[in-house]
Order: sequence, then structure tokens, then C-alpha cells
Amino acid sequence: MGAKSGRHFLQIPGPTNVPDRVLRAISLPTMDHRGPEFGRLGRQVLEGLQKIFQTKGAAVVYPSSGTGAWEALLVNTLSPGDKVLMFETGHFAVLWKDVALRFGLSVDFVPTDWRRGADPAVAEAKLAEDKAHAIKAVAIVHNETSTGATSRVAEIRKAMDRVGHPALLLVDTISSLGSIDYRHDTWGVDVTVGCSQKGLMLPPGLGLNAISRKALEASKTARLPRSYWDWEPMLRDNQAGFFPYTPATNLLYGLKEAIQMLLEEGLENVFARHNRHAEATRRAVRAWGLETVCQNPLEHSSVLTGVMMPAGHDADKLRKVVLERYDLSLGTGLGRLKGKAFRIGHLGDFNDLMLAGTLSGVEMGMAVAGVPFTKGGVMAALDCLSNK
Ligand SMILES: Cc1ncc(COP(=O)(O)O)c(C=O)c1O
Repeated sequence: MGAKSGRHFLQIPGPTNVPDRVLRAISLPTMDHRGPEFGRLGRQVLEGLQKIFQTKGAAVVYPSSGTGAWEALLVNTLSPGDKVLMFETGHFAVLWKDVALRFGLSVDFVPTDWRRGADPAVAEAKLAEDKAHAIKAVAIVHNETSTGATSRVAEIRKAMDRVGHPALLLVDTISSLGSIDYRHDTWGVDVTVGCSQKGLMLPPGLGLNAISRKALEASKTARLPRSYWDWEPMLRDNQAGFFPYTPATNLLYGLKEAIQMLLEEGLENVFARHNRHAEATRRAVRAWGLETVCQNPLEHSSVLTGVMMPAGHDADKLRKVVLERYDLSLGTGLGRLKGKAFRIGHLGDFNDLMLAGTLSGVEMGMAVAGVPFTKGGVMAALDCLSNK
């Protein structure tokens, strides 16, 4: 197939569309990362990130993917053999658990059917049973990108407080940061993991940790081996806006611009925009007569919607048709949802007409691919978008 006209629709749940303002910022000439101008940029970015994480504590930035930021969190806070309570909310929870196991941590991995978030009542029961405080950390994926279920982190914090358990609370916000309301300080989270390529509207390449005082204290005695990910030299050099090794200079230009864009729109408005697009998408799915992957109405994700395919129909065949005919990329089913579900990303630099185009591509694609569905999902979404 030759060149395509018009813009590609990148509606996977990250990496997301990078706004022109951010692309222009990234294209500026690379500067001396040990010079005075860089120090100012470093400080601005680190202070801006505190607003995004809603914390007064430190945030650090690694040149890494999100997986690196997971590893950073584990090696800075835990020791070999430490017990960690995790929840199998989907594919990314499984991958994070595997990282923990490779470091010799002992994981209590609570199963789910991959159609909901982590259950605060189960967390409470497990922690209440643990009178000896063997559990050193509770690790939760806030927004499970493989399913579209958002765990109730504030509820899990309350459960921990009710039983007075001292475990660290570690949260992955890789696909929720800057898109779904998230409060590192208010919710008493100890380490939050984020990355650049989702709600922060940047290309991949930056991994983030936000760090509480308690986590910083824990890092003084944590014994997992660490070098590249060590918070100590990072936080020391960050005080003047510098880094212990070469940072991803141009991505930091982009991060400064992206933070500015989010703050100009106002975080409340950014979250409301995501909630509204998610609601319109769910109405479309319902009108099509299909099921969302997430089954708990309290936990529907505002950044993506996972859609179950009718039995006997392959989600990847539909995605192929949609890509070839309409130049629209949808997220594939991951892990046990491979072929059974597809994912519509509605996060980042995104608006009503982009959602209308995306849902139209899905509806037309289903007709072309011979997927059984009821017409009218797009209309249901448009009604929702034009009513509010
Ligand atoms: C919730 C979540 N955690 C972790 C990761 C891993 O991040 P990365 O692929 O950048 O290493 C992803 C990637 O999509 C994710 O969605």
C-alpha cells in the first residue's frame, strides 16, 4: 500500500498522540546537561512533576521505560525475601510481579478474573491476618492498561489504615498519571511509578518515581542491589536540577511543555475530559451490544475501554481491518485476553471529534469484518458528547 493521506489515528492506550507543542519543544537543539540553563530546566521539570503527582515530596526522572521505573521502586525500598502483596488485575500486574520475583521478593499474588481492580476488602483481610507484619509492601497497578479497570487506591489506603498495617503502599500510575485523578500525598502512597508516553503526552523514554518520606527512610536500609536506579545520587544532584548521568535532555524539554499544557488546562478539567470521553465510549460499546472487559462500574477506566469480542470472533482480525481500511490503531488484547478483546485508548491529547472518528472507525471496521453487533454505537456516543 502506498502513502496514506490524512493523519493516522493512534488510539492505543499509550504511547499516545504527541501534541505539536511538545514535538516542537523536543526539536530544540540539545544543550549542555551540566550547564546553568539545564539546571533551571531540571528544577522546573521536577517541581512541575510534583504538581502532577499531587505531592510535596520528591519526584525523580530516569531515562527509561515504565519497566525501569518499576525496578527503581523495588530496589530502592525492599530487601531479598521481603513479602509483597500484589493483585493480578491483568497483564501489567503479572509483569510487575515477575520483576519482583526475579529480585527474590516473595509475592502473595491475589488472583482476579482480569475484569476488575484490586479488592480493598481482600487487601484488608490479608493485612489483618498478618499480625507479625511480614508484608513489607502492598503494590497496586492503579489503571490496569490491559483491561481498563482502575483500582481504588484511596480505598486500599483506608483499608491499610483501618488495620494499622505499616507496609509501604506502592502504586503504578503508568497509564493514569495526568489523566485520572491521583493524589500521592492525600492517599498516603509511598512510591508512585509513572512514565512519559501516556497521559504526559510524550514519546516513550522517561520513567518516574514519586517518593514519600517513609519510602526514603526505607531506602536507607533496603538491601536489594542497586546502582543505575539508586535514588540517593539522583536526589542529591536533582537539588540543583542536575542528574548523576546523562539525562534524556530533549524529552525533558518536552516534559516541561507537557506539564505546562496540563496545568494550563487545569488538572480538574483534564480529569473531567477523560471521564467524559470514557463515558461516551462505554455508551457506544453498550449500544453495539458488546461488553466492556471491566465488570465493576466503580472501576471503569477513564483512559481506555477494553471491549470483549463476540465469541468466535478474533479481536486481532478486527484490528487489522480497522488499521488497513481506516488507518486507526487500536490496542491488542494482552496475555489471556489475546484475540478475545481489543482496547480503545481515549487519553492524552484528545478531543470530542477524535473520539467520534475513533468510534466510527471501530463501528465501520466491525461491519467490514463481519463482527455481529448492533448499529448505533457512534450515535449513542455523539448524543452523550453533545448533551454535556
Ligand atoms: C500499567 C502499566 N504498567 C507498566 C507498563 C510498562 O511500561 P513500559 O512498557 O514503558 O516499560 C505499562 C505499559 O504499557 C503499563 O500500561
